[in-house]
Amino acid sequence: MKLICLDAYLLTGIEQAVRDGVDVLSMSLGSGPDQFHRSGIAVASFSAVLKNIVPVACAMNEGPTPSVISNDAPWLLTVGASTTDRRIRATVKVGNMELDGESAYQPSSFNSSEMELVFPGARLVESDLKCQTLNNFNVTGKMVLCMADGISNTVTGERVKAAGGEAMVIINNKKHGFTTIADPHVLPASHISNADAKKIISYIKNNPDPKATIIFKGTQFAASPAPAIAFFSGRGPSLFNGGIIKPDIVAPGVNILAAWPTEFGPNPTGNKTSTFNFDSGTSMATPHIAGIVADLKKNHPDWSPAAIKSAIMTTAYVKDLDGHPIGDEAFMYKPASYFAMGAGHVDPDKANDPGLVYDIQPFDYIPYLCSMYPTHIVKAIVQQRWVDCGTIQRITPAELNYPSIGVTMPIKKGSAFVINRTLTNVGPAEVYDLRIKLPDGVDIRADTQNLSFSSMYEKQSFRLEFTSNGTAQPEQVSEGYLTWSSTNHVVRSPISVTYN
Ligand SMILES: *[C@@H]1O[C@H](CO)[C@@H](O)[C@H](O)[C@H]1NC(C)=O
Ligand SMILES: *[C@@H]1O[C@H](CO)[C@@H](O)[C@H](O)[C@H]1NC(C)=O
Ligand SMILES: *[C@@H]1O[C@H](CO)[C@@H](O)[C@H](O)[C@H]1NC(C)=O
Ligand SMILES: *[C@@H]1O[C@H](CO)[C@@H](O)[C@H](O)[C@H]1NC(C)=O
Ligand SMILES: *[C@@H]1O[C@H](CO)[C@@H](O)[C@H](O)[C@H]1NC(C)=O
Ligand SMILES: *[C@@H]1O[C@H](CO)[C@@H](O)[C@H](O)[C@H]1NC(C)=O
Repeated sequence: MKLICLDAYLLTGIEQAVRDGVDVLSMSLGSGPDQFHRSGIAVASFSAVLKNIVPVACAMNEGPTPSVISNDAPWLLTVGASTTDRRIRATVKVGNMELDGESAYQPSSFNSSEMELVFPGARLVESDLKCQTLNNFNVTGKMVLCMADGISNTVTGERVKAAGGEAMVIINNKKHGFTTIADPHVLPASHISNADAKKIISYIKNNPDPKATIIFKGTQFAASPAPAIAFFSGRGPSLFNGGIIKPDIVAPGVNILAAWPTEFGPNPTGNKTSTFNFDSGTSMATPHIAGIVADLKKNHPDWSPAAIKSAIMTTAYVKDLDGHPIGDEAFMYKPASYFAMGAGHVDPDKANDPGLVYDIQPFDYIPYLCSMYPTHIVKAIVQQRWVDCGTIQRITPAELNYPSIGVTMPIKKGSAFVINRTLTNVGPAEVYDLRIKLPDGVDIRADTQNLSFSSMYEKQSFRLEFTSNGTAQPEQVSEGYLTWSSTNHVVRSPISVTYN
């Protein structure tokens, strides 16, 4: 459901929450990519951070298109959506193939009845592909093949049913890739991947009398690969934040069981009885992170919003349950880029004990903002009268003490870029060793190979010098990472280098 809400109302809502004394803002909303001063969420959240409130916001659902990401300010904790290994199985049986899809409606009476298969979109007319008007097709008593329209496809099912269709197969296009949704359809249905869509279309083309059935198998676990990035999850690189990697983190956001205000599905009574439903989107991923933030705040009341974000990011995992790099459902499960998964998938237990954090005090964002905006705009964002960018020592976005590292630099051999980072100890006394996995095309020199922390909240800084070795291509994006490892902790930061 798309709700339009004026920025003024959002600001009012967030202001009221701040006045109420909340600890966490869970914001499953966004107004699209824009400058910070034009985003009510960015402006209000900055004031929330000043009050030690953690603003958590969704990356929105415009993926896999790059750079259509909302809520990309560095003081926000920006959340993308991943899958889990749970599927609500609805297997399409066609010829001798079994194509594993999903549906939340699992009618037992339908089991095993085979029926004629119609494909209104066979001539590739967009509206026919999406089953928008079925007037020109006889779908009565048949199973209808329709292209996915959005994240939820229940409306398509309603159209098919109204036209007399008996069942439906929702097929993904290339962009939707492998992401399938367990919708509460109004008729027997299954949502299948783009790879399986190709198989069923080819079957229809090669059979004069195509028939299919759907076998409902209920809830299954151990789907593989999982977790993976959902096709729709909002992706960077951000066009507005100066190169800071966004999203920051991913959390489960596909087929999440959610409280629901009304009945739905094939036979709603019209009752406003509250119930449960599956829902998908970065809106579903965001409250997972907000809940984890609440837990961390309870366990560590003195951690700043930036410290909590750092704990969540540096302990995230980047391998799926099979031990492979987390894949991207929009791109054939190829390893997800940092602009799709941020630091990786949240690990709540590890986030509770990160060892070290990269902390940022709210006013530390001002030198960064001054590198991008004139004084009056920075004032509008941070709502502080005393700000004067003319007297402030600006820092590049890469220099912000962020838990991930996004650098833009020239390809030319020998070009150098220097950043500093400061770590704060939030664990026992330990010695940490540095390891760097170099992104292609650059050498990174650190001014130290180990850091020794002896007391709580002790701070230590290090310096990284990036030097291009002249091998990158224009606009190439290379990924690497660095870790600080002790006996008990691994503090990981993704490194993304964009060459210009
Ligand atoms: C449908 O049939 C399959 C295989 O025969 C069976 O495993 C499954 O439990 C049945 N589903 C329902 C909803 O009856
Ligand atoms: C539609 O197809 C059904 C089943 O094949 C058939 O019984 C019916 O006569 C057809 N309707 C029209 C209007 O052709
Ligand atoms: C609506 O819900 C109430 C309470 O759950 C129930 O008693 C009533 O029968 C329901 N009405 C219909 C039309 O299902
Ligand atoms: C990094 O820190 C060193 C020493 O603290 C300082 O001299 C240098 O200017 C800093 N570099 C940048 C790029 O801020
Ligand atoms: C450039 O750096 C990459 C690693 O970042 C390395 O694999 C490659 O061999 C280097 N090439 C040259 C010419 O130094
Ligand atoms: C730290 O690194 C230095 C230089 O690489 C090395 O000589 C020293 O032994 C290391 N110290 C520890 C405690 O690992």
